[in-house]
Amino acid sequence: MRVLSKNISALEGKEAELEGWVDVRRDHGKLIFIDLRDRSGITQVVFTPGNKELHSLAEKLRPEWVVKVTGIVGKRPAGMENSKIPSGYHEIQATDLNIISEAKTPPFDLASDGREIGEETRMKYRYLDLRRPRMRRNLVMRAKINKFIRNFLSDEDFIEVETPDIGKSTPEGARDYLIPSRVYPGKFYALPQSPQQYKQLLMVAGLEKYFQIARCFRDEDTRGDRQPEFTQLDIELSFVSQDEVLVLIENLFTKMVEELYPEKKIKWSPFPRLNYADVMSKYNSDKPDLRDDKNNPNELAFVFVVNFPMFEWKETEHRWDAVHHPFTKPNVKNKEEFIKLFHEAPEKITALQYDLVLNGYEVAGGSIRTTDPELLAAVFEVMGNKPEDIKEKFGHLLEAFSYGVPPHGGIASGLDRLIAILQDEPNIREVIAFPKTGDGKDLMMDAPSDVSKEQLKELHIKVEEEKQK
Ligand code: AMO
Repeated sequence: MRVLSKNISALEGKEAELEGWVDVRRDHGKLIFIDLRDRSGITQVVFTPGNKELHSLAEKLRPEWVVKVTGIVGKRPAGMENSKIPSGYHEIQATDLNIISEAKTPPFDLASDGREIGEETRMKYRYLDLRRPRMRRNLVMRAKINKFIRNFLSDEDFIEVETPDIGKSTPEGARDYLIPSRVYPGKFYALPQSPQQYKQLLMVAGLEKYFQIARCFRDEDTRGDRQPEFTQLDIELSFVSQDEVLVLIENLFTKMVEELYPEKKIKWSPFPRLNYADVMSKYNSDKPDLRDDKNNPNELAFVFVVNFPMFEWKETEHRWDAVHHPFTKPNVKNKEEFIKLFHEAPEKITALQYDLVLNGYEVAGGSIRTTDPELLAAVFEVMGNKPEDIKEKFGHLLEAFSYGVPPHGGIASGLDRLIAILQDEPNIREVIAFPKTGDGKDLMMDAPSDVSKEQLKELHIKVEEEKQK
């Protein structure tokens, strides 16, 4: 039966079978050593010249070959121990070797942290890049964070619900990725920029406490903290105040750091709540980095920014747009007051909107929602939607709100950003298994790519000739 590296010490004096990759091979005169790597770590294997056949097979071994080794677990000679790894006091005296899969020489060094290697090559061979310990640690911690979130929120009585990826566009300020419909010529689905409307509809459905670790899609330029496809921890609650949402997310992140990153120190507890206007005038940014020492990766300066303006002027489109999204509740009593204030000074209307900033990055954002259908329709209208557009784009939500809607609000956290900061990574691509490159490509699978004429025909799509190249 296969034994993992981390467990060999329990088998001292006994036979063990290990399977994994050759990490390195060292020839010391007549002795050949290999470090055998599996998901749990590394084991040193020794081939002595006594068994000629086995020894000459071991001579062939190269890094990254997949092998099965059988041998006797023994103590390493005094002075040769490695206290840094669980198997560091033991080694395997090989009695059998089976080469399972040979490997070409990898295009880059897999033992280093990889930061010196160009992104193009790393992404093209991402499955090799992920073999390096740093990348493995990032994925392992990401899985632990997901598990922590699921446990924490389930214990708080939240229900995890999956919402569709093939649906209708929800405005979140970015361009949509569209999916052409085969069955309905000329019609399109949109990939969700976030599950915003679905989660609000789940509140109308009476779920009261929803969460989802959701994939979101936004056709915008990729940056260090931005991917076209990213993951949100999405939360929505009914009968809730802004204060309750903030306390929930603060408790979740505080407990997560305490349990999974005990070496890190949260600078302020509770997280300060700063007014948007004050933050802007003091730091000229709505996501200030308030660490004492910006070189200290163990300092976590979480701050909430609250009291955002509801609208901002979009010069290019010549209209007022929602700073967060149109579902956010403006700080007004009713539609009449809203219209009055909007005509007086739209920029002065504040919203029940909040962001969570961590070390200079926006790691979460959310709001209390407008549930009064009249007020919501008025917000859509001042943003430049004609009544017929409102019906077409948001009629389903307005109708749903006419069937008994609880007051509700929520938040969504960009998990890639949060995890990148916790893992001391400068870029969210380092904590995503298969991210897109800076120019939006998947170099490993070669996407985007051409599709066949038949596929296009089925989808009723004609591509202009010169753009097809
Ligand atoms: P918002 O658009 O602010 O809110 O998104 C929430 C959080 O998601 C992260 N984020 C991103 N991360 C990586 N790549 C991107 N392209 C990207 N875009 C956003 C950020 C951000 O704070 N539906 C609302 C939430 C709500 O109102 O409940 C929403 O999506 O960390």
